[in-house]
Amino acid sequence: MKDKFVSLFESTSSDESRAAWAAAQAADDANPRFVVSRTNGDKYRVTLAPGGPLDPPHPLEWFDASGAVWKVPCSRRVLSSHTLVKDFHEYLKLGEPAGLITRQELVSMIPVAMARLNADSHVLDLCAAPGSKTAQILDTLTEAAGGLHNHSAQGFVIANELNRQRSHMLAHQVRRLSSPRYMVVSHAAQHLPTLVVNDEPFRFDTVFADVPCSGDGTMRKNKEIFASWTPSTAVSLNPLQIAIALRGAKLTKLGGDLVYSTCSLNPVENEAVVAQILLRTNGGLELVDCSDRIPGLVRRKGLTTWRVMTNTGEWIDSADTCPQPYQGTYSEPSFFPPTDPEFDASVLTRCMRVLPHDRDTGGFFVAVFRKVAEFSLSIPDGTILAELDDTTFTTPRAARAAARAAARAAAAAAAPPSPPPPTDDAATSSKAKAKAKTKFSSHPSELTGDFDLPFERLASDTLDTARAYWGINDESLGGAFLARGSGATSVITWTLDTMAALVDASNARSIVGQPETDTVKLHPSLALNIINLGIPAFTVPYKPEQPARPCFDGLPFMGRYLSRHVVTIEAHKLFAFFNMEAITKSVTLPTDTLASDHPELVELVDAINAMDNPSSFVVLATRADRAEPIPVQGFFTTKSITLYVAKQRRAAIAAALFGIPYSPDPVAPKSN
Ligand SMILES: C[S@@+](CC[C@H](N)C(=O)[O-])C[C@H]1O[C@@H](n2cnc3c(N)ncnc32)[C@H](O)[C@@H]1O
Repeated sequence: MKDKFVSLFESTSSDESRAAWAAAQAADDANPRFVVSRTNGDKYRVTLAPGGPLDPPHPLEWFDASGAVWKVPCSRRVLSSHTLVKDFHEYLKLGEPAGLITRQELVSMIPVAMARLNADSHVLDLCAAPGSKTAQILDTLTEAAGGLHNHSAQGFVIANELNRQRSHMLAHQVRRLSSPRYMVVSHAAQHLPTLVVNDEPFRFDTVFADVPCSGDGTMRKNKEIFASWTPSTAVSLNPLQIAIALRGAKLTKLGGDLVYSTCSLNPVENEAVVAQILLRTNGGLELVDCSDRIPGLVRRKGLTTWRVMTNTGEWIDSADTCPQPYQGTYSEPSFFPPTDPEFDASVLTRCMRVLPHDRDTGGFFVAVFRKVAEFSLSIPDGTILAELDDTTFTTPRAARAAARAAARAAAAAAAPPSPPPPTDDAATSSKAKAKAKTKFSSHPSELTGDFDLPFERLASDTLDTARAYWGINDESLGGAFLARGSGATSVITWTLDTMAALVDASNARSIVGQPETDTVKLHPSLALNIINLGIPAFTVPYKPEQPARPCFDGLPFMGRYLSRHVVTIEAHKLFAFFNMEAITKSVTLPTDTLASDHPELVELVDAINAMDNPSSFVVLATRADRAEPIPVQGFFTTKSITLYVAKQRRAAIAAALFGIPYSPDPVAPKSN
């Protein structure tokens, strides 16, 4: 296996194959990791001395001039075990869940860094889990908007992931950034529905197709790649990669960009796919010359010729010369350089290959297309491409299913009449519904539980109570509050107007074509399978007369729009809540002993007592060295006050409030 891998690798890295190969398989010890720190503006001050036993992390300004991209030049093993980097490791562990930093490998950052994103960009990330590029897109949009709270900037990203479990992982990954500019959906990317907004099919400024691939460029961090790698992985993925990219091309706005990428160096997954996209979009797409973007990035030109390797290690030059035993598996023309005399292969040199030894990274491939004309897809006979156009939804598989259905219908028509249906309409319809549900549930991308309910604009009475209790500052907030099933379930989400318009279009099933085919099962009530979007703003109370409570995850964003039942207080005065075991605790009232037990809390308690009928409140904790206060949610009864901090964020919040790595030991914090 290794020989084949090396041989394939060498065939794509030509003259420097040895150096490339050595770098590609370098031990994990040399595996560099990268840190982005943008959204919340936190910067780690590194104290390690240059020239010491470990190189300090340093910004990669050749990659990102803003100084937001840092390299951590030591392995994960050293990072987690070396005492000199203990503080830094602690910072990474706290900073990531708190949304202060993102750890991402450098090569994985190239597609987004190459793209032309601005504050109003509408972005689609077709294959998004686990979400490192989606997070990078969100950071870029936030930075372009000048911060999280510029709601006149209407940029957002729709992040799609087929695998339901991974789509939740993706939602978790982006939620920590406290950005309202995202929606996570779960579809087969090649079948993503086209929504109609303002009577026009909705198109995106930039579409990322970071497609599923063999991953052979990641072998330095995925040692197990050898165990499962075979040359046929690439050929089996090639049709799906083409289908996903073509659907992305269709959904790209005229003048917009489609960015295709893989973490593989195999041309079957790269240049072969790019060539097919150019061919099948009939001049609608052009490859962009990106040589002036990220000038410090060493990249190689795309290949113009290549061969295809079989699982037995034989090379095949073209579909026409494919030997008989390999016909079928390896003879698809889309695997090879196009033979169409009209096709100028030299354009493929605009593709970019990043080789491991150039910058001590993983291997990567990226190509940027510009959509220059609307196009009809041309799909050669014999491909297994599924529906990709907006209006044509026939696939060979769907066609077969349609033929079977037609045959069944014909047989039923010829059969004797069936007995009359039972008269109990209710029973019949509930059975039918249950059956329909079971059928639907067997689909891998089904919706379950609360996901059965679509997001809808929130009924005004629930919202009115929340607005009144919290004194929501609508003028600066704008946007729309949504909830699944219009507020029947627990979370109220806030989102931007543009995303709310897409949700409306989805609910109205305002979609071009007929997206439900044999291969695409949509939830009966939904056009878009929305996993999550926007800011989780409030939880719906059990009792309608109670005010909605802020959601923990959304509070860092929503805090500044609340003007009632809010107390501003210096952060160090809250230490008593964190200074008791590992869990945020209630501080017991009454107040007659408060002044002696917790004098620093008198101000907080007085402020709460002065509130109009308080139950739930928010503390805006200030620090002299932070521009933004840290919002923390609290509950009040006549006997106690409690600050609520979700367990998994407690250490990060404590560190943010008190500026110390959190420890359950009662260490007195310094006043700031
Ligand atoms: C290379 S990974 C994407 C990595 C991601 N862009 C990031 O930067 O974190 C490819 C993803 O595509 C998903 N996938 C596979 N087939 C898909 C399809 N037909 N439609 C959408 N996603 C698909 C896989 O589950 C996987 O999560």
